Amino acid sequence: MKRTAIIYILSIFLFSNSFAQSLKPLYENPSAPIEKRVEDLLKRMTLSEKLEQMTQRVIGQNNNASNAELDKRNYSPLTGSFINFSNNPGFANEIQRKAMKESRLGIPVLLGMDVIHGFRTIFPIPLAQGCTWNPDLTKKSCEIAAKEATLSGIKWTFSPMIDVARDPRWGRVAEAYGEDTYSNSQFSVAAVKGYQGEKLSDKYSISACLKHYIGYSLSEGGRDYHASDVSPLTLWETFMPPYKAGVEAGAQTLMSAFNDITGVPASANYFTLTEVLKNKWKHDGFVVSDWKAVYQLIDQGFASDSADAGAKAVNAGVEMDMNDEIYVKYLPEKIKQKEVQMSRIDDAVRRILRVKFRLGLFDNPYVDDIAEASRYLQPESQKLAEKCAEESMVLLKNEKTVLPLSDKIKKIAVIGPIAKDQVNVMGSWTCNGKSENTIGLFDGLQKEYKNKAEITYTKGCDFEGTDESDFANALNIAAQSDVIILCLGEKRGWSGENASRASIALPEIQEKLAAKLKEAGKPIVLVLSNGRPLELTRLEPLADAILEIWQPGNFGGNPFAGIISGRLNPSGRLDITFPKVTGQIPMYYNMRPNARSSMKDWNGLYQDVKNDPMFWFGHGLSYSNFVYYDLKTSKTTFTENETISIEVKIKNSTNVDGQETVFWYVSDPVASITQPMKKLKYFEKKEIKAGQESTFIFRIDPKRDLSFVDGTGKSILEKGKFFIEVNSQKLAIELK
Ligand code: GLC
Repeated sequence: MKRTAIIYILSIFLFSNSFAQSLKPLYENPSAPIEKRVEDLLKRMTLSEKLEQMTQRVIGQNNNASNAELDKRNYSPLTGSFINFSNNPGFANEIQRKAMKESRLGIPVLLGMDVIHGFRTIFPIPLAQGCTWNPDLTKKSCEIAAKEATLSGIKWTFSPMIDVARDPRWGRVAEAYGEDTYSNSQFSVAAVKGYQGEKLSDKYSISACLKHYIGYSLSEGGRDYHASDVSPLTLWETFMPPYKAGVEAGAQTLMSAFNDITGVPASANYFTLTEVLKNKWKHDGFVVSDWKAVYQLIDQGFASDSADAGAKAVNAGVEMDMNDEIYVKYLPEKIKQKEVQMSRIDDAVRRILRVKFRLGLFDNPYVDDIAEASRYLQPESQKLAEKCAEESMVLLKNEKTVLPLSDKIKKIAVIGPIAKDQVNVMGSWTCNGKSENTIGLFDGLQKEYKNKAEITYTKGCDFEGTDESDFANALNIAAQSDVIILCLGEKRGWSGENASRASIALPEIQEKLAAKLKEAGKPIVLVLSNGRPLELTRLEPLADAILEIWQPGNFGGNPFAGIISGRLNPSGRLDITFPKVTGQIPMYYNMRPNARSSMKDWNGLYQDVKNDPMFWFGHGLSYSNFVYYDLKTSKTTFTENETISIEVKIKNSTNVDGQETVFWYVSDPVASITQPMKKLKYFEKKEIKAGQESTFIFRIDPKRDLSFVDGTGKSILEKGKFFIEVNSQKLAIELK
């Protein structure tokens, strides 16, 4: 009896899961702690297996014919990561199966992609999303993008891009959230949380990647890939905070940038990549280089050859090199020469494995292979994309309230190269997005005004060139209409990577078309679709209203039409300043005061152009009217350990419900390090119903909101007077 019982218990144990697990190596045990699994796997790996983990290659082919690499089956199953251009889950599973089954240790591959503003459902470009002042919309859009990416086998996105940008000549200004440090920090956190979800191992979580670390947007003259001269103060005051916020939000990876940071390239910068990121911020994920940025250290005059470049990048703190195979080819030699320590290699591989374990790739490496129709473009995704587009659109001008169009308008002329466009309105970096899914402006208006008004259309002109052959026809259509909706803008390839422009004006042909249509003597609503601030000096006077729709992605047509008709009330506010002319660049809201700013004459200002911009950061009109009043503080003087509340009441004095964004600025008129004229420290967006009022409160924590940094990143709080500014009302407070 006893013997039978022992055999019975033994057999249960022998065939139990825990016994089976005990036969496997520890790293394959899902219930073992991740750090133990990492160490167990690391100690089993050969040098070549380690260097393959530090290597990212490219594979797959999407709808972008110019992809650098086609589908390559003859790659090493040891490859640590691929940029996967395919959106086919079966293809992703095949890559994964090869990695797990054909390699000695069965390490899963990390498939990454530029999911920048959507995977297949394309949302507005990030520069537009910043104008919503609603980070929660960005978070939700990233959640949807993460799910669509996951269902295509992608578990890593090279997003969010959080490079504070103040030079609209630089094409990549389209990819971040505008010119302000605080707002880029808020959107950085929102995007990281959207992509990475509650837990990284959740089914639809993907790893975020903060980029391009760091100072890339100061590329000289707005010329992409050029050197950036970044002072230590600018580094800490302007560029570091969004990355710190993203790291604190749990971003698992960062991407090192192309630019040279004042003599030391970002992809070989020990100070930023290790001293700050790893030692000060304790980041325990990994850094991937930008595309061949390791190799480019040679071009930048920082490395003598590929082997030297590889050693400098890995020693500085770049764990994975993107698509130049330098680590796997040249580091063995550098390790032999003791120029690279195995401890650094092990630290790099540890970080990469850690992220793979956290993503659950070892335990759930494959993706459900479901039909394309249920993977993408779900109704709730389109709805959110329309909401994002609606809240990103900025009403810049509205003379004689030509908008919303009155019900008396029965004939609407829709003219311009953007009017029926379905491609360029998607913007740059559209991943697996397809233009056939785009609802364009003309489509939106036709639907909005069905049985209400007659919509007529002609293109008028192309984006560029000299062909005026449709001008006469356009003028004729305009003359027979009640209003002209003139849709101008940029091609999507005019912004994004390697898309710098010496002038931020639209091509002359578009300005000429606008001037021609002015002859019709009808109200002109100028609609702009662009990936950067534009020079509007010649266009602005011709337009009675100007609506900036940016590049709204696939679903801008309906919200656009809703704003034109008044069904929707525009709530976007600029996240970036529009200079009057290119020559004013850089021009941004939080510049430092000039030495003669108190003098009234033109001292130090341009002789040929008034010094203010066309539209300031934060500008945007609404169909409501918001009256600010009763700005007050809980305390006028306080000590550094006290928090104070500043509040303002706002009344919506119209009969139109609307959303208002309140921007709370702090200015510090005297400090041991001069301060910008004002700094955005908090913003809040709320709906205020018609005729109603609402109170907005800014709770000031002196250490957080009144301090500034020095060139070492040290936070400094000095006693003295500060001004709190809201809607150009100022309140003085004093830190005792
Ligand atoms: C590009 C871009 C970067 C992108 C990467 C992968 O060169 O600079 O933003 O994530 O390569 O496509």
